[in-house]
Amino acid sequence: MVGLVPSILSADFTRLGEQVREAEAAGAQRIQIDVMDGHFVPNITMGPMVVEAVRRCTTLPLEAHLMISNPQEYIETFAKAGADVIIVHQEVCPHLHRVLKQIKATGKQAGVALNPSTPVILLQDMFHFIDLLLIMTINPGFGGQEFIPETLPKITQARQIINHRGLHCDIEVDGGVNAQTIPQMLHAGANLFVAGSAVYNNKETVQEAMDKLRLAASV
Ligand code: DX5
Repeated sequence: MVGLVPSILSADFTRLGEQVREAEAAGAQRIQIDVMDGHFVPNITMGPMVVEAVRRCTTLPLEAHLMISNPQEYIETFAKAGADVIIVHQEVCPHLHRVLKQIKATGKQAGVALNPSTPVILLQDMFHFIDLLLIMTINPGFGGQEFIPETLPKITQARQIINHRGLHCDIEVDGGVNAQTIPQMLHAGANLFVAGSAVYNNKETVQEAMDKLRLAASV
C-alpha cells in the first residue's frame, strides 16, 4: 500500500489549514512538517508553533522532520506540540540511542533520517529501535530539487535488512518524489513517500496531484 505523506514546505502558507485539509481529503496517510534551523541545513522554515497549528487542522498523524542541530533539546517540545513521529538526523546525533530513547519516552514514534551521503550500515545496530527510517533522496533544505538516483541502492539495502530481521520499521523517502520517480522508489523497497512540490503546485489540485502519484505507483 502506497503511503503518501505531503510535506507542507511547498504548501501555500497563506492558507495552510485549507491545504492540510485538502491533503487529508485526498487520502494522505500522514503530514510532514519540515523543521529547519539554518544551521544543519541552509534554510530556516518552521517550528513547534506550526506543528500545533497543523495539529488543530487534521487528525492525521504528523511527522516532525527535525533538520536541526541538537535535536535532543527539542524532543519534548515537538511531542507536546502534537507530533506523532519525531524524526532526527543521524548526522547530528552522536548519542543516537539516547535520543531515540528520549523520543520513545514521550510516547511518540522515533524516526531517523539519513542524508544522501550517509550509509545505511551506520544504523545496523539501531534498526530494532527505530519506527521509521527516512532516506533523503535529495540534499535537505529545499523543495523542488532533482531526485538523486544513487540513493536507490540504500533503500533496497535497508529493505533487505528490515525484512531479513523481521522488523516493522517503515522506510520513507523524501525529496524529488513525483510520478516519474515514485515507481523506482517503490520497487527499491520504500513504503512511505514524502512529496512537497509534486502535491502542492499551481498546475493541479491536491486531489489531482495525489491521484497522479498513486496511479504512478500502481502500474
Ligand atoms: C526538504 C524537505 C522535503 C521537501 C521535499 O529538505 O525535507 O520534505 O519538502 O520537497 P519535494 O517533494 O518538492 O522534493
